Amino acid sequence: MSTWANLGLQDSASPLMEQLIFFHDHALLILVMITVLVGYLMFMLFFNNYINRFLLHGQLIEMIWTILPAIILLFIALPSLRLLYLLDEINEPSVTLKSIGHQWYWSYEYSDFNNIEFDSYMIPTNELSMDGFRLLDVDNRVILPMNSQIRILVTAADVIHSWTIPALGVKVDGTPGRLNQTNFFITRPGLFYGQCSEICGANHSFMPIVIESVPVNYF
Ligand code: CUA
Repeated sequence: MSTWANLGLQDSASPLMEQLIFFHDHALLILVMITVLVGYLMFMLFFNNYINRFLLHGQLIEMIWTILPAIILLFIALPSLRLLYLLDEINEPSVTLKSIGHQWYWSYEYSDFNNIEFDSYMIPTNELSMDGFRLLDVDNRVILPMNSQIRILVTAADVIHSWTIPALGVKVDGTPGRLNQTNFFITRPGLFYGQCSEICGANHSFMPIVIESVPVNYF
């Protein structure tokens, strides 16, 4: 979980989030190289005293500075496309969790596992225990097995919500009348915190998600 002054991404707890972080770093590196180059060129132009009196056109340089950025963009586009299809893949899930967004709480159903159903409300600040996280802890956590493929189906009962957990690289909109699907694989035990990330009304900030990842034999 991220705490004060953690400005970067959270440590990944799933292979997909790991890939997302790799892609972020890759894209950022290209961005920094372009910014430094353009910044340097602009800076030097301010102090340039030379002009070319005979310059009317430059076919070669225009070819270079048109094609080169296109090639650089390919280096971002192709890994991005690879990630997009990786995120869309569903690999024989062993558990399916259905999460339904409400104003303003989440309710969950383990439709193929004893038909468990429950609501998950944020713990109000005045009822919070000493080790609880304000605006982030819930009364009923989602318990899921680690090292297994988990499918989640997301929908909503009233307005659009979004089931988002940064450490797992999951962000799926819950839309009334529709059923969205994604899947993930948790690589370590622990608590993973998330929040609704679709502006869904007055108490939008108060519908957090807590996932408790446990070894399969404890599940
Ligand atoms: Cu539900 Cu924002």
